[in-house]
Amino acid sequence: MNEKIKSLVQISLERINNCNSINDLELIKIELLSKNGSFANLMKDLKAIPNDQKPYYGKIINEAKSEVLNVFSQKFSFLNEQALKEKEKSEALDVTLSKKREIGAFNPINIVKKDISDIFIGMGFSLADGPEIELKKYNFDLLNIPDDHPARDLTDTFYITDDLLLRTQTSGVQIRVMEKEKPPIKIICPGKVYRPDDDATHSPMFHQIEGLYVDENVTLKDLKKTLEEFAKLFFDKDTIVRFRPSFFPFTEPSVEVDLSCRMCHGKGCSLCKYTGWLELLGAGVVNPIVLEKAGLDSKKYSGFAFGIGVERAAMIKYGIPDMRLMFDNDIRFIKQFKF
Ligand code: PHE
Repeated sequence: MNEKIKSLVQISLERINNCNSINDLELIKIELLSKNGSFANLMKDLKAIPNDQKPYYGKIINEAKSEVLNVFSQKFSFLNEQALKEKEKSEALDVTLSKKREIGAFNPINIVKKDISDIFIGMGFSLADGPEIELKKYNFDLLNIPDDHPARDLTDTFYITDDLLLRTQTSGVQIRVMEKEKPPIKIICPGKVYRPDDDATHSPMFHQIEGLYVDENVTLKDLKKTLEEFAKLFFDKDTIVRFRPSFFPFTEPSVEVDLSCRMCHGKGCSLCKYTGWLELLGAGVVNPIVLEKAGLDSKKYSGFAFGIGVERAAMIKYGIPDMRLMFDNDIRFIKQFKF
């Protein structure tokens, strides 16, 4: 019996010491130390031993088992620790490894939209919104656009049904806001608009920023001051603004606002077609008919409105020769606007 115990201990220790993986060690444990393992079987062998010797051998077997268990535990902790270290090593972040990340750039349309909005927000305007799929009522009727106006033609407007269309201008938002709010109203509305045009200076989808200021005693002078200030902040402080008489059914008087040419400063060049001026936006004093249609008292209130073409402003600011460049998604173009 003594020999049997000694040899089991020896074999067990050898196997544990030579074992190099936690999984194998678990298997060895089952084989040796479990209920049906080698040590348990040794205990069963005690049956054949005379009764008076049983306690002696029982004790020896238990001591042998705990010796093996002890070595097993040490080995288990060692292998566990090693596995952990290995894991840490493989998952460690190498902070010295420099990986160049490409930083994207904003499309100039978004840059300009944000810059223009920020300037007007700085002047006390707040942001308003309206739907791109618009009722004819808001896009034309309530803006005093006559039934036979060419802008309503199928060649100038994308219709969805007789009464529903893709808005051709952000001006409809003026009505939506005036119907809901009481003056003072001071809003801008940046958004997409749609017209069936497609060439170097027109795109079927483009962006406008509508502005509306309605209160008591708002005049053309306020419009001029506001737009002059805007042009100086958005382009540069030497920019000169020119108001030219124009016509929109929803403003009276109406103006077209030009900027002194940024390339030739008024002398005349190919950019300004030798006029010295660049067309920037349409604006005017809100027609009292429009105020009344939106439910405001035109004797008490007056206002001004303007509509800035975002792509046009971007083309002027950055000297972009073709509007389509801003829609082509060519990374070489967009990358130039990384600031
Ligand atoms: N909605 C006009 C356009 O699309 C611009 C505009 C807005 C003119 C507000 C006057 C007042 O051309």
